[in-house]
Amino acid sequence: MRVRGAVLREMGRPAPYAESRPLEIAELELAPPGPGELLVKVGAAGLCHSDLSVIDGSRPRVMPMVLGHEAAGTVVAVGPDVKGFAEGDHVVLAFVPVCGECAPCTTGRPALCEPGAKANVAGTLLSGERRFSGPEGEELNHHLGVSAFCDHVVVDQHSAVKVDPDLPFEIAALFGCAVLTGVGAALNAAQVAEGETVAVFGLGGVGLAALLGARLAGAGRIVAVDLVDEKLDHARRLGAVPVKADENVVEAVREATGGGAQKAIETVGNARVLAQAYEAAGRGGVTVTVGLPHPDQRLDIQAVSLVTEERTLKGSYLGSCDPRTDIPKLIDYYKDGRLPVDELLTHKIALEDVNEAFDRLRTGGAVRQAIIF
Ligand SMILES: NC(=O)c1ccc[n+]([C@@H]2O[C@H](COP(=O)([O-])OP(=O)(O)OC[C@H]3O[C@@H](n4cnc5c(N)ncnc54)[C@H](O)[C@@H]3O)[C@@H](O)[C@H]2O)c1
Ligand SMILES: [Zn+2]
Ligand SMILES: [Zn+2]
Repeated sequence: MRVRGAVLREMGRPAPYAESRPLEIAELELAPPGPGELLVKVGAAGLCHSDLSVIDGSRPRVMPMVLGHEAAGTVVAVGPDVKGFAEGDHVVLAFVPVCGECAPCTTGRPALCEPGAKANVAGTLLSGERRFSGPEGEELNHHLGVSAFCDHVVVDQHSAVKVDPDLPFEIAALFGCAVLTGVGAALNAAQVAEGETVAVFGLGGVGLAALLGARLAGAGRIVAVDLVDEKLDHARRLGAVPVKADENVVEAVREATGGGAQKAIETVGNARVLAQAYEAAGRGGVTVTVGLPHPDQRLDIQAVSLVTEERTLKGSYLGSCDPRTDIPKLIDYYKDGRLPVDELLTHKIALEDVNEAFDRLRTGGAVRQAIIF
């Protein structure tokens, strides 16, 4: 079928993207769903910094690619051997397909699904196939098994989670990346407990979701760090203590948390900021890193403090979640008012405006922006 989507053909075009237009909006051909696959009519797709990192080349991926990885929509056709999905189901797409059978999947670490990671690196669906082709008939790669910036997508059933149809698509979409990642980092990786002091570095979609997750867990004082004043105001409205990311940021966070945070969560994607988050944590503290720095970056921290202060430094991918159970659980928290995900959505845009929207994300002028189809 003919579909309309946003294709990235080369990484590293110079900003502003309103001028260099790295994402080309084009008519594409989408093959029907194969075995175990679903055809999904996308309702809304969110813009994440991980997409921006592919555009600017700091997260290299195979090209050309239909970008986007945070979406919700409606199943409009199912391929052979699909189990548990039917036409009309509303689904949220998760950016790691969970095969359910590999060692990580069967031992409680589905975010590390091995066939899922392999397919994501190759730019294919879990089957190893590609379903999009471009105007010249050229094969296009999938982004993280989702490729959300298109009005219809074919995904593996293991990339989809059936959800309540009551939710607006632009809210549901955010559960696929920002909410799962940020709230999951606070609940599953940092295991924020009642009364604990928490510092969140970076207040984009993922960082604000981590803040909401910490609040949900009953954290005591939450300190929120960013460079952008509007982000700090936003965090203050959500009950956090704002701290500007200037040269005194480590001291300021340590002071605001009474000597160092019990849990520090980094959501910027920069090794220098990760080192600051580590330093701003206290004795016995846990630092969780969620941001995705360029693969060449190295981390510089005081090694001995890991031992003498019994600190922990850990990474969290996909919020260390199982999308199949955590997405419905987090949606329940949203519905009972404990997780105000609406706070993350600052802009609704059209597919045609996606380049301008990435300028807005790049310059700190937006939290989550959703393309409405
Ligand atoms: N681990 C995962 O599974 C996963 C999932 C999604 C996104 N990510 C990564 O998480 C990071 C955040 O994603 P996002 O979509 O929320 O991005 P975003 O661009 O919306 O937010 C990043 C925030 O960091 C702030 N910032 C920049 N420099 C800073 C500094 N020196 N100190 C403090 N704050 C600073 C920015 O102003 C912005 O508010 C990215 O690296 C993204 O690739 C990881
Ligand atoms: Zn993302
Ligand atoms: Zn697996």
